[in-house]
Amino acid sequence: MLKKVHIKTYGCQMNAYDSVRMAEALAPEGYLETPDMEAADLIVLNTCHIREKAAEKIYSELGRLRLVRDRRRAQGSETMIAVAGCVAQAEGAEILKRAPLVDLVVGPQSYHRLPDLVRRARSEGAKLVDTEFPEQDKFASLPARQSRQLPAAFLTIQEGCDKFCTFCVVPYTRGAEFSRPVTAVMAEARRLAGFGVREITVLGQNVNAYAGEGPDGRIWGLAHLLTALAQIPGVERLRYTTSHPADMNDDLIAAHRDIPALMPYLHLPFQAGADRILAAMNRKHTRADYFRLIERIRAARPDLALSTDIIVGFPGETEDDFAATMDVVEEVGFAQAYSFKYSPRPGTPAASLPGQVTEADKSRRLAVLQTRLNAQQAAFNSAQVGRTLPVLFERTGRRPGQLAGRSPYLQAVHVEAGEERIGEIFSVAITQAGPNSLSGVII
Ligand code: SAH
Ligand code: SF4
Ligand code: F3S
Repeated sequence: MLKKVHIKTYGCQMNAYDSVRMAEALAPEGYLETPDMEAADLIVLNTCHIREKAAEKIYSELGRLRLVRDRRRAQGSETMIAVAGCVAQAEGAEILKRAPLVDLVVGPQSYHRLPDLVRRARSEGAKLVDTEFPEQDKFASLPARQSRQLPAAFLTIQEGCDKFCTFCVVPYTRGAEFSRPVTAVMAEARRLAGFGVREITVLGQNVNAYAGEGPDGRIWGLAHLLTALAQIPGVERLRYTTSHPADMNDDLIAAHRDIPALMPYLHLPFQAGADRILAAMNRKHTRADYFRLIERIRAARPDLALSTDIIVGFPGETEDDFAATMDVVEEVGFAQAYSFKYSPRPGTPAASLPGQVTEADKSRRLAVLQTRLNAQQAAFNSAQVGRTLPVLFERTGRRPGQLAGRSPYLQAVHVEAGEERIGEIFSVAITQAGPNSLSGVII
C-alpha cells in the first residue's frame, strides 16, 4: 500500500542533500513524499545541532507533532516519527526520554538504514536508535539518485571534519573527514546531468579538504575533481561549499581562473578578525592569512563574489576584537554573509572557556555587524543594475507569470517569462535590485 512521508529539514545544505537521499531511499518501500505533514504516515525531522536555538527548535516542533499524531490517531491513522540528523547523533536515546512520541532516532551516518529501521519499528512495534558510524560508505548502500532536484542539485562529496574549531559540534556529530571515491561522485553527477541538472554544488563540511580515491589509484583533490565534473555534458555550472581557508590550495585557486563552469562565488568563513580569537577558536589561520588568500583568489578571478560566516561574542572577545572583525568586513567587502552570536555547545572546548560574553553584548555586536553586512549586500546587488547576467531558471516565482533563477553570484533573479524557460540559462538585463534579489528582462 502506498504510504506518505514528510521530511522537514533544518541546518546546512548537507542536511538538505541527506533529506533528498532519505526520500529516495524510502521510495522503494512505497513512501511518497508529501509537503503536508497532516497527511504523512511517517514524519522525519532532519535536525541541526549547531547552535542551542537550532537544537531547541526540534523539541518545540516535536510538541506540535504530538498534536498532529493525536489528530491522525483520532481518525484511525498511525504516524511514525523519526528524528534524523545532528541532534539525533548528539543526543541519541536521550531524545526518546525527552520526547516519548519519537519512534526512531537515526544519525547522519546511518540513514541508509532508515528503510530497514522503519520496517522493523513497524513489525516489532519497538523504538529504535541507530547512531553508529558504520565502517562502509553509506552512499554505496543508497539507491541511485532520482530526478528530484532540478535543475540545480547538491551532491555531497565529503563528510565530517577533522578541524575541531573549539566552538563547533560538527566533528562530533558528523565524525572524521571522509571523501567519496571519484568514480562514485562522477557517476552520481552524470546521472543528475542526465535528468536535466545544469548546476551542481558539491558539498562537504570541509569540501576543499576533499581527498578522494581517483580511478588512477591516486588521491584527487577538489580542483582535480572539479575539472573532471566540468567535462560532463550538460553540467554548465559548478559550485562548492563549505570551504576552510586553510585548505584553499594553489590548484583550487587556479581552478577559479581555469574552469569556466566554476561560478565566481565563494563561501569562505573567517569567523573572527582578531588573531587571539582565531587562535582560541583553533581556526588555523590568521587575519593576515585570510587577507592574503582573498588577494590571491581575486587575482585568479577578479569578479569573484565572496560570502562568509562570522561569529560574534566568542569567549574573551573584547570591543577591540570585535572592531577587528568589523575591519575584515570593511576590507574584504562581502556579497553575502551569515553571522551568529556565539552559542556555547555542550562538550566543545569553548563552552568552558572563561570570559563568556553577555547576551546583551552579543546582541549589540551582532546588530552592528549585520547592519554593515546588509549594506554591503545591498550595494553588491545594486552594482548589478545595468549589467547582463546569465541566469539559470529554477522555478516559478511567487507571482503568476514570474520565474525565479540564480545569477552566477548566487543572487535570486526574477523575470516575467513562461515556464518553458525553467531548467535553462538565459541572459538577463538586470533592471532592479532589492536587498535580497534582482529583477530584469530576458534578452
Ligand atoms: N564547515 C563550515 C561551517 C560549519 S557550521 C566551516 O568550517 O566554516 C556553519 C557556521 O555556523 C560556522 O561557520 C560558524 O560561523 C557557525 N557556528 C558553528 N558553531 C557555532 C556556535 N557554537 N555558535 C555560533 N555559531 C556557530
Ligand atoms: Fe566546524 Fe570548524 Fe569543522 Fe567548520 S572547520 S565544521 S566550523 S570544526
Ligand atoms: Fe547543523 Fe549538522 Fe549541518 S549541526 S549545520 S546540520 S552538519
